[in-house]
Amino acid sequence: MGQDVEIADVSMRFGDFYAARDINVHIEAGEFFSFLGPSGCGKTTLLRLVSGFMDPTKGQIKIGGKDMRGIGSNNRPTAMIFQNLALFPLMTVAKNIGFGLEVRHEPKAERNKKVEELIELVDLHGVGNRKVSELSGGQMQRVAIARALAVSPAVLLLDEPLSALDLKLRHHMRAELRNIQRRTGVTFIYITHDQTEALTMSDRVGVMSIGKLEQVATPDVIYNNPATAFVASFVGETNRFQGTISSIEGEYAVLDTSSGTFSCKNPQHLGQGEEASIFIRPETVFLIQKSDAPNLLTCEIHHLSFEGAYAVVTLKTDQGQLLTMRLNNDGSAPRIKVGDHVKVTFSRHNAFLLKNGDFSSA
Ligand SMILES: Nc1ncnc2c1ncn2[C@@H]1O[C@H](COP(=O)(O)OP(=O)(O)OP(=O)(O)O)[C@@H](O)[C@H]1O
Ligand SMILES: [Mg+2]
Repeated sequence: MGQDVEIADVSMRFGDFYAARDINVHIEAGEFFSFLGPSGCGKTTLLRLVSGFMDPTKGQIKIGGKDMRGIGSNNRPTAMIFQNLALFPLMTVAKNIGFGLEVRHEPKAERNKKVEELIELVDLHGVGNRKVSELSGGQMQRVAIARALAVSPAVLLLDEPLSALDLKLRHHMRAELRNIQRRTGVTFIYITHDQTEALTMSDRVGVMSIGKLEQVATPDVIYNNPATAFVASFVGETNRFQGTISSIEGEYAVLDTSSGTFSCKNPQHLGQGEEASIFIRPETVFLIQKSDAPNLLTCEIHHLSFEGAYAVVTLKTDQGQLLTMRLNNDGSAPRIKVGDHVKVTFSRHNAFLLKNGDFSSA
């Protein structure tokens, strides 16, 4: 069964460079937790710290309540799956899966029994005697998962394990991984730079940017209530207008921008006169006929991209800023074409104001 992982005040410095800085997060036993962030933000570093390949410069990592400092990777209740899987291509599937047990001198009968169970668990029935080099990408993935689970880890660490697979297989393996995690109850710490992967699979997601943990929350909160400008722009598509706060109205604020004056939620409780950005998801922008609606923008249709169930519409405001809108193909929207002049609006409940952040890696 899974154990909890506490990462308390952890920093990792290489020379002058912080690959991870003041990371605090408590991952529950049996949770599927993902770290999501762009390349170089410190995801693998964090995983290596949990697995014991290195100790943090500062802070503490506890697994199952026990401080892990000084405990090497072989003696931690963790197993790791690498991006390249690191399987033995010329060994059979069963040999690969049983490898860790053999190293630990587990008696043969018990080893075989466990390998059989794992083959069932990851749905590899009938291929136990095949060489790994003869398997498909998805099958290899399953072997890697079974091999990691063979040593009964309390925490499984997965470093972008699906990135080498094609899109269809990746979708399938997401669901498989989630199923395996539920069936085994092992704590999964998954890292990825793919937001859809993180949002669809995880109980909670930690979004990282250049060594820092920006927000830890459930997928819906990450998407609907991003805590920082970085999270808002990295996770999902968004429209952004920069401006200055002209007034505060309870939990809402009014932002003056070059494209107009907009009212929106103010989750960071920013004050009048502050520079900030307003973020609006494409699916919350609507066409409107009236000219007296709040949060109104007059635009020209700049580009239309038909995607089947919906169209992605790029609009150009009178001031020349582009914004995108999603138009559902359910017959309710008026017909529009490139060059048309339209009015669009968004609800102040669906737009959020956040302090301008560092967008360099978003
Ligand atoms: N041993 C090391 N010595 C010096 N710098 C390092 C070392 N390991 C990692 N770094 C640096 O720390 C930063 C974070 O690296 P890390 O591998 O954790 O990123 P990542 O989020 O896993 O990126 P990717 O998505 O590309 O795998 C990078 O700038 C990297 O160059
Ligand atoms: Mg990495």
